[in-house]
Amino acid sequence: MSDQENTLTIDTAVESTDSDGANRTAPNSSRTILESRDLSVSYGQDRALQSVDIRIPSRQVTAIIGPSGCGKSTFLRCVNRMNDLVDAATIEGELRFDGTDIYGDDIDPVALRRRIGMVFQHPNPFPKSIYDNVAYGLRVQDDTENIDERVETALKRAALWDEVAGQLDKSALDLSGGQQQRLCIARAIAVDPDVILMDEPASALDPIATSKIEDLIDELAEEYTVVIVTHNMQQAARISDKTAVFLTGGELVEFDDTGKIFENPDHDRVEDYITGKFG
Ligand SMILES: Nc1ncnc2c1ncn2[C@@H]1O[C@H](COP(=O)(O)OP(=O)(O)O)[C@@H](O)[C@H]1O
Ligand SMILES: [Mg+2]
Repeated sequence: MSDQENTLTIDTAVESTDSDGANRTAPNSSRTILESRDLSVSYGQDRALQSVDIRIPSRQVTAIIGPSGCGKSTFLRCVNRMNDLVDAATIEGELRFDGTDIYGDDIDPVALRRRIGMVFQHPNPFPKSIYDNVAYGLRVQDDTENIDERVETALKRAALWDEVAGQLDKSALDLSGGQQQRLCIARAIAVDPDVILMDEPASALDPIATSKIEDLIDELAEEYTVVIVTHNMQQAARISDKTAVFLTGGELVEFDDTGKIFENPDHDRVEDYITGKFG
């Protein structure tokens, strides 16, 4: 590990105490793990996110919905600094992970991305064996103690173990699309992150594979914070605890319990979007 990576020493042993000092012993305590304040993002002259304020709770599923182009992917990419790779992107405002400024000078994006993993729309396994895909992040960190066991645990948590046990040497590229996506989830969780960002992870999958991913997301929220972008409102309603509605112009219009958003949103624009009047 480089010296720089050592600077990312965000304390995660926080289950029992909130920032206000209150004891929260319930596993699904609503401690905030990701928080933005007045977060705006532009690509050149074009604004993609407009003054977004959000507090995403730990160990719950937060869905981000909204019409195409409203900044959903942009928001996710800010959270694990993937927008660093986009020259035209400028980011203003504040974004905090467990209280630490994600854009602070001392944050190493590579170390950050181990704490905040990402899964994309199209499964992107490496052209390596199933085992090597899951072991990848551990080997890169030179963290190979009990590696077989940790690979197995990650595959079990990703609900893939039963389908691949005994053939871990097989190429990941020979798996079905749905299996590849669960492998990418196993790869993300093998390094034991806090947050898993998912950008439309099931939209390229058939209904059966989609339903496996949805079941899995529900289980993952027992251990991890899941933030999922989906254009599928039924999916958001089924799997999430909280829903954030972004609308045209990159504005976060409403963020609340999923039941409230879908049954009785405060904003007419949100109601129109949910009921299919536009978008
Ligand atoms: N790399 C980029 N360069 C320039 N513009 C971009 C880039 N990525 C996204 N945009 C623009 O930013 C806006 C928000 O995009 P995006 O975050 O991908 O929306 P969503 O995921 O909600 O569909 C869109 O207008 C899109 O065209
Ligand atoms: Mg997108």
